[in-house]
Amino acid sequence: MIRISRFREFVKRFIPQHQRRRLSRIVQHLNRIFQRFTVGYVRWPQSLLVFDSSIELCGHEGLIDALKKAGAQCKERGQSILISSLSEIKKVSISLASEYPHAFDLEIFPEICMEVTRGVHNNGFATELITPDMVDTLQMRMLVSNILSTYRIAPRIYDVLRLRCGQSYYFALVIEHLEGGVPNVEKGLEFVSKIKRIIEREGLVVQRGVVDAALGLLPPNFGGKILEDASGNCYLVDCSDLTLKKYDKTMMDYLDSTRRLAQMSDSEIPRRPNFYYQSIPFLEPAGKRDMSSRVGFLEGMLERNGYVFDRSKVLDIGCNIGMFGAYMLHKGAGWYTGLDQPLVVDGGRRILYYGGYSRFDLIASNLLVDDVNCILPTHEFDLVLFLAMREHIGLPEWLPSLSYKFLLYEGHVTESIEESLEFLTQNLPNIRILEEAIWTERDSSCRPVVLCEGLDV
Ligand SMILES: C[S@@+](CC[C@H](N)C(=O)[O-])C[C@H]1O[C@@H](n2cnc3c(N)ncnc32)[C@H](O)[C@@H]1O
Repeated sequence: MIRISRFREFVKRFIPQHQRRRLSRIVQHLNRIFQRFTVGYVRWPQSLLVFDSSIELCGHEGLIDALKKAGAQCKERGQSILISSLSEIKKVSISLASEYPHAFDLEIFPEICMEVTRGVHNNGFATELITPDMVDTLQMRMLVSNILSTYRIAPRIYDVLRLRCGQSYYFALVIEHLEGGVPNVEKGLEFVSKIKRIIEREGLVVQRGVVDAALGLLPPNFGGKILEDASGNCYLVDCSDLTLKKYDKTMMDYLDSTRRLAQMSDSEIPRRPNFYYQSIPFLEPAGKRDMSSRVGFLEGMLERNGYVFDRSKVLDIGCNIGMFGAYMLHKGAGWYTGLDQPLVVDGGRRILYYGGYSRFDLIASNLLVDDVNCILPTHEFDLVLFLAMREHIGLPEWLPSLSYKFLLYEGHVTESIEESLEFLTQNLPNIRILEEAIWTERDSSCRPVVLCEGLDV
């Protein structure tokens, strides 16, 4: 295999600078053509969590009866059943109630059983092709609602999960908990025109007819789909009739428009004029760091030391566009929290949504000045990632006060393993070194990597 560094040397030596730019454009164009054929393939689908239900799962009517018998209050919403408070959700599944770091509602779909869920990708028995199969599914509803949530006009959907009782499975959505009522006609109509503008901008379409009639958003009660909260913000609480029509094109256009946000480009490299720091393996765009090989290396180190991915809680300090999150969620993590600069996390959040990921928070922060303890939704983690960050932020003051089982550290290319060990042991008194290694990949020279165990704070 030709090493990229050799190729780079060759190009610098034999191709004049003005020709390199042209070559870069040609390579970029060829890459785009290649992506058109490969974009739909999800290599790291988010794992589907399964929770045991303490209530017998037996069709729509049967489920309502069983919920009533268990004293769990619920509301019928068309084909689904909505359970809105944590105390009621606990009656269905105790482990589920404590899994997510935000207040949520549970919407159960008794009619969606295994046979008709071919479109629900990421479930291990259906398909990994997301482009056509996501249409009309809970996954698509999750994607649309999450895209609209970036404008704060729809709730976030934190997950699509399976509830299991004996041999039966039901699908359910974990939806951000919102409280409020129907807005007045004037406010509701104003909100509908706002939604229409955003829907058009985002390349979303309704299945039939024009937006307000097809979505049932007509006054006076707007189909019960618009909710105004106590601060006067309105939300479209049911996005089930909306779909992203040109899924791959929208996604690739978005990547093109945001590439500059997360780039760490080397204009000497004859690939793209700008490319991401982290490559995006599930969409193919290139990056300075090759995520596929990186995660393979880190995973080996974690597994050798007894790390359990399943339902783990991960914090990534300086997460860039969140590609470690994508991988952790693929491996079964319960929740991923990433911290980085505002523009970078805005880009990353979208990319993760487009990739079908939902169990995460990407939080904007200036890690040099913010007290991160005040902005984190939880403070206990199974794994903290501190990768290629020392040069940027040193060791943040708040890091020693976090509680974690494992901390994975990656140093910079100029750093020796001895320097890394000294840096860690001097700054973090509550750790034990488990394993150290030297890592090298495509565009990046050798870097020290250290896995530590977190001792009680
Ligand atoms: C070398 S990259 C490492 C990214 C990631 N940890 C990885 O290993 O792939 C450094 C990251 O730190 C972020 N960063 C640098 N200074 C920062 C700051 N003051 N606050 C928040 N993020 C910062 C950058 O946006 C970038 O994503």
